[in-house]
Amino acid sequence: MSEYLNQHCLHSHGAGQLDASSIGTEVTLTGWVDHRRDHGGLIFVDLRDRSGIAQVVFDPQQLTAELFTLGETMRPEWVVKVSGKVRPRPEGTVNPNMPTGAVEVLLDKVEVLNSAKTPPFPISDHIETDELNRLHWRYLDIRRPAVRRGLLLRSQLTSAIRRALEARGFIDVETPILGRSTPEGARDFLVPSRTNHGEFYALPQSPQLYKQLLMIAGLERYYQIARCFRDEDLRADRQPEFTQLDVEMSFVDDNDVMSLIEEVMAEVFCDLGFELKLPLQRMSYAEAMSRYGNDRPDTRFGLELQDVSGIVGSSGFKVFAQAVAAGGQVKAINAKGAGDLSRGEIDKIAAVATDHGAKGMAWIAFTSGGEAKSPIVKFFSTEEFAALKAALDVEDGDLVLFAADQPDTVATVLSAVRLYLADLLQLPRVGHQVLWVVDFPMFSFDEEAGRLQANHHPFTRIKDEDLDKLESDPLSCGSYSYDMVMDGFEVGGGTLRNHRSEMQLAVLKALGFSEDQAQEQFGFLLDALSFGAPPHGGVAFGIDRLAMLLGGYSSIRDVIAFPKTSSGADPMTGAPSAVEPKQLREAGIRLA
Ligand code: AMO
Ligand code: AMP
Repeated sequence: MSEYLNQHCLHSHGAGQLDASSIGTEVTLTGWVDHRRDHGGLIFVDLRDRSGIAQVVFDPQQLTAELFTLGETMRPEWVVKVSGKVRPRPEGTVNPNMPTGAVEVLLDKVEVLNSAKTPPFPISDHIETDELNRLHWRYLDIRRPAVRRGLLLRSQLTSAIRRALEARGFIDVETPILGRSTPEGARDFLVPSRTNHGEFYALPQSPQLYKQLLMIAGLERYYQIARCFRDEDLRADRQPEFTQLDVEMSFVDDNDVMSLIEEVMAEVFCDLGFELKLPLQRMSYAEAMSRYGNDRPDTRFGLELQDVSGIVGSSGFKVFAQAVAAGGQVKAINAKGAGDLSRGEIDKIAAVATDHGAKGMAWIAFTSGGEAKSPIVKFFSTEEFAALKAALDVEDGDLVLFAADQPDTVATVLSAVRLYLADLLQLPRVGHQVLWVVDFPMFSFDEEAGRLQANHHPFTRIKDEDLDKLESDPLSCGSYSYDMVMDGFEVGGGTLRNHRSEMQLAVLKALGFSEDQAQEQFGFLLDALSFGAPPHGGVAFGIDRLAMLLGGYSSIRDVIAFPKTSSGADPMTGAPSAVEPKQLREAGIRLA
């Protein structure tokens, strides 16, 4: 961390900056006592600051008795200021595991700036403390180098993004947090209005409509590092409040947005030390679903899905024949090298399948001894079996797993099985793989609500060639849409927008809005679109997800300073919490 600032502060150097070139220099360090060891009359303290750790030496020959005693009483996490001269560590005591391990500071001055209670867990990367405890004491948790590293990386990420976008004419505009609900598909967080009892603001799920209004306002290129709020069930890659890089551009088509954004991302990745080869691969939604069963495929490993309906759909195995007869399909994964898995392990894979909605999981294990073990081979003719083996490129030592059902279920099931197998077989997933998934269908059918829903959001533009099918066959309408996928995560997504008022109204109607409802909820947008809206489109990236993946973390909580637990709570401050009756009265709220 060469940019560590050593001016306008109490220290002359960062602890982690010391190396052989510092030998002979008088330095002043400030930081926390990481560790103290008493040794043959000397005291060694590892002193930690943001830049790293340095060893400082208390020698009774160099220090007054009073200062030496101070060294003896120092406890972990005390805050100290020390001065002395950097010297090489004696031979045999060099620590190659520490960046500053070749040197130490022989102290001649010591000052205790503050004492500390014993921390609830050691400040070290090698701790086994549960996350709740870590979040309860998050400011101590952040003292651990691995957590601090995540926050530094995130800061480098947003600053690289700003540089890259501003160099291309984007301007940073803030949009309201207290606003009207934007439908991005999640539940809104509501804020009661004190001045208008019975009315509520919604926290933005994204700045979607505001950024479109900024295009209508003529800004042409907008960006914002924007906080977004969505009240949905949380996962490792989902928080109720998260941060988007939000971008919108005027006078562009989908290729313009994608090519500019991938150029920006390549520059940002490069600043962070990763290479992104351009142009990025573009895979259609249909191909992603067909090959991986997923619209955010991890393409760093194979285990692709293969449609074998044509081979086994009329076989004697009723499950397969019936699925195909009912308009479904049979797909298989050939797990190379898994043919000798035990029955117990195969049952565990089947459990993953049933957990994801499969009615069962048929399999054929081709052992390395040349046997085909399976509950279902007896149903296949010799020709069917041979065709199956040829289609799936089967060799001894392979395990073939099947799902037979409607395409949606098959995709969900085999996508989950595929990821489980990658872990089980420890397939190497090194480096990063980034691609665009493009051309999503505009709508899908929401079984629960019994109506269409927009796959991205209702402001997405339908492919020109599909406009005439909007009423007759909406499910066949494509959209100008693109998601950026990295290592199996959706890191970004965007679309071109409906820039004509009548286009927008037609989509809202397809989604089940009456004209009155559309006017009531989106009148301001429909109105704005009728005042000369330019063609426009944009994209938004999950900053938390990008930082998580680039930093090699497994949860976005690791790159958020003060994240929420999976139940949406903050164990440190106790949020959410009850409020004073007076606050409720002022907001015009009575609790049920
Ligand atoms: P979308 O809803 O796809 O698009 O969101 C964009 C990106 O934000 C990230 N993301 C999240 N990250 C953490 N926690 C969450 N709960 C969460 N939800 C989403 C994802 C996602 O790709 N307005 C549109 C963009 C546009 O059309 O321009 C939008 O918000 O990485
Ligand atoms: P059964 O004839 O029901 O005993 O099933 C024989 C095999 O087919 C078992 O291994 C089941 O797990 C499997 N199976 C059942 N339903 C399905 C399905 N929809 N897709 C794939 N395999 C299935």
